[in-house]
Amino acid sequence: MEIILKDTYEDLCRAAARMVAKMLNAKPNAVLGLATGSTPIGIYRELIRLHREEGLDFSQVTTFNLDEYVGLGRNHQQSYHRFMQEHLFEHINVPAQNIYIPSGTTDNYEAFCRWYEQRIKECGGIDLQILGIGVDGHIAFNEPGSSLGSRTRIKTLARQTIEDNARFFDKPEDVPVYAITMGVGTILEARRIALVANGKKKAPAIAAAIEGPVTSLCTASALQLHADTTYFLDREAAGDLKMIEYYEWIQAKGPGAPYSTTWRRSV
Ligand code: F6R
Repeated sequence: MEIILKDTYEDLCRAAARMVAKMLNAKPNAVLGLATGSTPIGIYRELIRLHREEGLDFSQVTTFNLDEYVGLGRNHQQSYHRFMQEHLFEHINVPAQNIYIPSGTTDNYEAFCRWYEQRIKECGGIDLQILGIGVDGHIAFNEPGSSLGSRTRIKTLARQTIEDNARFFDKPEDVPVYAITMGVGTILEARRIALVANGKKKAPAIAAAIEGPVTSLCTASALQLHADTTYFLDREAAGDLKMIEYYEWIQAKGPGAPYSTTWRRSV
């Protein structure tokens, strides 16, 4: 695991966007796994800036989103389809036919989930997956207790997640109770993973994910089994890490330092 510590949310987002840009410069037809929620908004803002001002090209890119609320149509104000259009897709040149987001309104969820998994494979697998993390340690909507081998499926949201996401809806009762989500097993197959977290509220989940046992009670802890995961954290989100001094020491040594886990690249 690689841990990048930054002082501000803007710095975090710039660093994570730079990782995406590097990926696209090296592989213009890369397959990106995308997340929604508050956390990645700044990354998308920076990617839009890089597209407009520095010509970052998405014309050959394919994207797969992690999840969608069951029951919300693509034009619903709070659907993740709408979120992605507003925060990213409307502003860059990714072809519409290359955009995949789970459907919240399909007639046959089982068949849809199988098809989604199949499409990821047919497109060559995900090169870089962007993740946020829930206060309960979830990645995508893999709530505590999810199988660490799970695939795309319908998941019942945890009470904590419903409460956390109620801020986006008029009333808490409006938050859907089910979501269609990539599984932990699906996510672990991405070649590279970037998990971004900011703010004090995320500190316990980040500590559990990075330094706790691998457990379905914190599905982000499964990333300990992934060989190429980078955490982008601000000081608050990193606040409960026991080994923080060690991570800072590695970061201070910079890329190329012997014995550093970050020797392979600079971000
Ligand atoms: C969203 C997703 C979720 C969020 C998580 C954090 O696609 O998969 O796992 O990343 O709930 O949400 P925010 O960023 O709003 O704190």
